[in-house]
Parts: sequence; structure tokens; C-alpha cells
Amino acid sequence: MTTLVGRTASVKVPATSANLGPGFDTLGLSLALYDELEVTATEAGVRVDIEGVGAGEVPTDESNLVVRSIAHAFAHYGVPLPGLHLKAKNSIPHGRGLGSSAAAIVSGIMAAKGLLEGVVDIDSDALLTLATELEGHPDNVAPAIFGGLTIAWTTPDGPRAKKLIVHRGVSPVVCVPAATMSTALARSLQPESVPHADAVFNVSRSALLIAALLQSPELLLEATEDKLHQDYRASAMPETYELIQVLRRHGLAAVVSGAGPSILVLASDPSQRLVAAELVAEASSNPWEALLLAVDFKGATVITHEVEAAAQP
Ligand code: HSE
Repeated sequence: MTTLVGRTASVKVPATSANLGPGFDTLGLSLALYDELEVTATEAGVRVDIEGVGAGEVPTDESNLVVRSIAHAFAHYGVPLPGLHLKAKNSIPHGRGLGSSAAAIVSGIMAAKGLLEGVVDIDSDALLTLATELEGHPDNVAPAIFGGLTIAWTTPDGPRAKKLIVHRGVSPVVCVPAATMSTALARSLQPESVPHADAVFNVSRSALLIAALLQSPELLLEATEDKLHQDYRASAMPETYELIQVLRRHGLAAVVSGAGPSILVLASDPSQRLVAAELVAEASSNPWEALLLAVDFKGATVITHEVEAAAQP
């Protein structure tokens, strides 16, 4: 096999917000806030340089999640892993429900796709499968890979996703607190089973939410109601829960972003976003960062740079 040494993959992956209220473990939205990564195949060893979010905090050895994701893809195709030099520029906040772990995993799988170009073809289905194997559920990795709004589901043959383009009036604002939340803790608060009526409630709202996001943003408030996860998790993030009630009382479609503790507001037109940001600032004694983010329509990208002629042996 041709040597990969010297080959570089440049990757860009968006933040994501999962669940969107009723679509637990199913719906996700890609947001225009990005982690960027450059990975070069080297002779041996692992070097990880991080700028921005996570610098000085996340591991910089083989246990780094991006490195593990690259290794996972190489192992899947039976290709020996070269040495790796990673340069990451991260903007997606960690532990806030904005898909930072999905972004790290998708960055790694996309980097592997770039490094292995011409050796193996990692297509869209394989990207989703490999990323979901590491993340555990597909609702963040699907929008991170494909962009837009995604419906993700699992089959005996693996995860699947359908990408949809949202109505241009839909205007997200993400309110990010200083506190973090562990997804594992949030998931541990979920009951094993739920009342049938609650399941029916969420089926109706999830179906309505697709219509609201694609055609009828005026239905977003009703369409983002949920009985499957947010109430069960409220005790772990009381301030998030209280602020969501305030925002909803003012007619804004506010939900927990992913496993929290950030809040996603799906405003039905851009002017509503400032109202949401002001309400959060007024109602809370703690500082929240309001991010007025566009929907990302492209998803993850990778560009492969070949070894320069002068650098070849
Ligand atoms: N659907 C997931 C959850 C998203 O809410 O637990 C966070 O990974």
C-alpha cells in the first residue's frame, strides 16, 4: 500500500442540538459553530495540539477522543494506523449539550476518510455507522455529518438518517450557562418505561415538529412540547428548567439542547431571538451566553492535501 505519511486531512464539523423537545434520540439540528481539525499522518507517535475550547483540559495522547475515532475507522478497514499529528481549533463548548463529543468523533472519522482517500471509500452510510458506534446514539452525529435537520433511527443493519432543509424563518438561539452536565448522568435519570399516553403525546408532537420546522414555524411552540425526557432531568439542571418555563410562557419554543444544560430556542423569525436572549439575561442571576446561530446546511467537510513533491523521498 502507498504510504500515507505526509498526507494531511483538513476537517470542519458543526455543533449540533439533539432532541429538539419531543424527538428524543431521533431529531437533531446542525448549527453554524465549528470545530476545525488538521491531521497529518506521520512515521510514528501521537501529537495533539489544541487551541480554543478544551486546551489544557482534554487528553493529548492516544486516549484523545478524536485520535480514538481515527483509530476506530482505520481498525474497521484493517489499515495500520500511521503516526498522527493533530492540530485542533475548537469553538464548540464542552459538556453543554451542543454535540461536542459528536463533533470530536465525526472529526476523527472524517479525518480518517480524508487520510484514506484512494485507499478505501468511507461513504455516508459508513460515516454514520462508525460515528454512532462510538457515540452510542445517532441524533447528534447525524446532523454533524449531514447538516440541516436530521431524523435518525436505528435498524438491525445499523443507523440511518434523513436530512431535511428547515424553513428559512426558523432562527435558533442557544443560551449557554457556565455549568456543565454529564450526558451519562442525564441518561441515568430516564425511567425504563413511560406511560402509553406520554408516548402518544410525543409521537404527535414529533410529527408536528417536522411540519413546523419545514413549513409552519408558527406551530413551533406546541410542536416542541415533550413528556419523555426533560421533566425527568429537571432536578439535575433546575435553572435550565425554570428558564425554559419563562421563555415558553412568553411564546418562545425553548427546549433543553441535547442532554443540557444549554437551552435551544427555535424562534419563528430572527427578531424573536433577541427577545429570548434578553429574557434569559433578566430572569437569571447567573451569566448565560446567548449565541445567535444560523442553521448549518452543509455538515462536516474534509479536504485532503497530498504530500508535497519536495517532501517526498
Ligand atoms: N439524545 C441524547 C440525550 C442527546 O438527550 O441523552 C445527548 O447525547
